[in-house]
This record gives sequence, C-alpha cells and structure tokens, in this order.
Amino acid sequence: MTRQFLPFLAFSAALLGLAAAHDPGDAGAHQQPPWQEATGWPDRIVVTLPESPQSSFAVTWRTDATVDATFAEIVEARDDARFDIGAERVSARTERLDPQKADAFGEVIDIASNAGLPPAHFHSVIFEDLKPDTLYAYRVKGTGDQWSEWLQTRTAAESGPISFLYLGDAQNALRSHWSRLIRAGFQEAPKADFILHAGDLVNRPSRDLEWAEWFDATGFIHGMIPAVPVAGNHEYERLNLPSVEQNRLLSVMWRPQFTLPEEPTLADDLQEVAYDIRYSNDLHLFIISTQSPKIEEQADWLDRELAASDARWKIVSMHHPIFSSGADRDSPERRAALLPVINKHKVDLVLQGHDHTYARGAISQTPERIAFQSKGGSVDTMFVNSVSGPKQYGFRAGDWDDYEADGVTLVRKAENTQFFQLITIDGDRLSYEARTATGALYDSFDMTKKRGRKRITRGSASTMGERSFSNTGAYKTP
Ligand SMILES: [Fe+2]
Repeated sequence: MTRQFLPFLAFSAALLGLAAAHDPGDAGAHQQPPWQEATGWPDRIVVTLPESPQSSFAVTWRTDATVDATFAEIVEARDDARFDIGAERVSARTERLDPQKADAFGEVIDIASNAGLPPAHFHSVIFEDLKPDTLYAYRVKGTGDQWSEWLQTRTAAESGPISFLYLGDAQNALRSHWSRLIRAGFQEAPKADFILHAGDLVNRPSRDLEWAEWFDATGFIHGMIPAVPVAGNHEYERLNLPSVEQNRLLSVMWRPQFTLPEEPTLADDLQEVAYDIRYSNDLHLFIISTQSPKIEEQADWLDRELAASDARWKIVSMHHPIFSSGADRDSPERRAALLPVINKHKVDLVLQGHDHTYARGAISQTPERIAFQSKGGSVDTMFVNSVSGPKQYGFRAGDWDDYEADGVTLVRKAENTQFFQLITIDGDRLSYEARTATGALYDSFDMTKKRGRKRITRGSASTMGERSFSNTGAYKTP
C-alpha cells in the first residue's frame, strides 16, 4: 500500500503519446464485466507477508469509492461453529485510486486502457501481535453490512517445514488460460504457505481489466494463501521521457493493491518492489526489481541483507533471469551486477521468469564438474526460469554453452508448456518439483545441506521426455 499519495500535477500534452499507444475504449465502463466492476462489496482480497510473518499478516481489498472508512475483523480460528464471536476489529487504511490517471514523476498522464473507469478505494490492514504457526480467521468490510466471507490464513512457524508455489510469468489470457494453471497448483499444494509470482503478473501494467482477470483466476486462493509478488517489466509503464529512470513507471495498481514490506534504506521508487521476508529460521526470501534502473543499488542492498541473514535457506527471486533461456533476451548488465553477489553468498535458489520457456541449471564453484541430473553433485546455486501463462517462446540456441565462463550447467529445459513449481523445505533438505497444468511431473531434485556442503541428493525425475515446439501440440500466440 502506498504510504504517500502524491497529488496530481499539471496535465501534460507531451505525455499523451503513452495514452495513444494503448487501445482506447477497450475497457470502457459499458463493457466492464461484472467481475471487474468495483461495488460496495469487498473484492480483490489478497493476503501478503510483512517483515515478520510469524506475528503478522497483511490484507488488502478493493471497494467502490463510496467506502471511505472501513475495517477488518480477526479471530483465532477454532472448531466452534461461531468461532467469530469475540473477533477483534482493526481499522483499515484507505487509498483512493483513479485508474484513468498516473502521476509520472510530477506529470499527470492518461491511462487510455482504463478510460471510463471510476475511481476505486483500496483498503488495507496489517494484523499484528499474532501467535506463530496459528490459523486465524478474518473478514473485511465494504459498505453497510457488506462483508467478505471469513477466510483462514496461518501465520508462519518459527521453524519447521515450509512449502510454497513459485510461478513464472502469467501475463496473458489470465482468465481463460492461466486460471487452470494456478488452480492446478492450488490442488497440488492446498496448504502451501505462500505463492511467489516471479513478475509479469499482467501484460499492460496499469490496465484494470487485466488485474480483474488476475483476481478472477485466483478466486479465493490469495484470500487464504499469501501472495509474494515480484515486479516484472510488464509491471512498469514505458514512457517517452528523457531519462531512463523516468521511463520506468510502476503500475498504478501495484502499491494500492499489495501491502508489502518497506525498505527504508532503499530509494522511494524501490519501495514495495525490492524487499525481503524472513519467513522463519529456515527461509529468508529476497525480492529484486530487475526492471528498475537501480540495479547496482539493489545489488548492494542484497549483498548487505544476505551477509546479515542467519536463515538456513536463502532464496532470491527476480523477473529477468541471470541466464537467459529465450532467444535474444540476454541481460549482461544485470548479470554483471547481481551474479557476483549470488555467488559470494551461495544463494540456494534463484527463481525467475521473463523468457517464456523453462530452464533449470546450476553453478558449482567446487572444481569437480558435475552432472546435476544425477545424485551426488555438489552445488552452490540452482537457477530456474519458468512460465505459468500461455505465451511461449523458443529456447535460445546453444542452450547455455556460452555461459560456460560463469560455470553454469543447464539441466532441464522445455518449450510450449505452462508450469507451476512446488518447493518444500524440511530442515536441511529442499525438494523441488516442476509440474504442468495437468499435474504431470516434469522436473525435480532434492538439495541437502550437510557439514557445510550442499549436494544434489535426488536427481532429476520426470514422467515425460523433453518438451519442445517440435514434439508437442500446435501453438498460437494468445
Ligand atoms: Fe517479462
């Protein structure tokens, strides 16, 4: 949730080019589907994780602009039919969002894809002073007696097993084609502790209709399982302004819609896109915004945060991959800034998106050269690029041979397939599975820490051969 709402300044004719680049009228008010329209009922309810997920969680929701001041209620979930008697009330913070306008560094620009949409209100609470590893029921209020259903969310344990889903780019055909993928993930892991979305949640950053589709596809899932969103390039508007910094404007929806940890040591435009969550003694998550031009600043921050973390497993997520798997999509500058930090701290897993292909590979800094497909390989960092939506690209030529100097080995790849990944941490063992939308196992491994070494203790297992455009069904751009 944005802590400060900047007043809109002068209207700039020079910037209307941005508006013209969009399809005018394609989300006009008269065409709004019922699941897009804001009403007095709370919708787009999403749980997110603050800095201390063992004692708190955040909830954000939307209503129409008639709801000025509202609140949420919370109670420990019990077996009693009326568990809700005695629920505690918490006042919400309310933020108005006019989806037709964006404040672009002091200039107001039009968002033509939201033409005709009225302002909406986004409300948020952070429930605090909760018990660890405890199931809570909460509900959020709109106007009058218009409440959400009671939803249940569990706080993080101080230590112990954790499981979570990781999804690459959703981006396109969210309602028609991405929905089955996230729901398949939910069916596979209904008790997942959170779901990590590694960027490009939508295609057009600020287009309300796409966010409506995203929330329609996820349904009640993110009312119960916290979302950990990563900002991708499609969460930033591209403006025709003189400086690179000013050409990257975060989606107007992002900060109102997600209540994420703030990092006081980072620049204002990195708030709620670069953050860390120390989930428990067993897991520390670090989220980077690779579309931000401030890569060096984030690399320095990541270096400091990793050095200070005593968590057993450390996982970094960012949108643009360190090692590209799509054709002509390499990011050498980002790699130059971030890979030394990842190597220095032997980050366990790096979870990425952007290339609309599947790739998994590993770096081992020990001299032994290892086939990571098999058991016994010593490993420092495992890198994954994945895609959850229906837009699919071809795999880059030569696989990862030209990254040999970086010491990375490609283990498994795929094209023309939507995936979700289930990652489970239990003490010194991390287990990974990549599954398709039908639930089929495509890739997996176990990584185990023992006496200061990290090894692959279960090699790649799969129920199918390598999938490529040449041996799978017909494809059409969604
Ligand atoms: Fe992307």
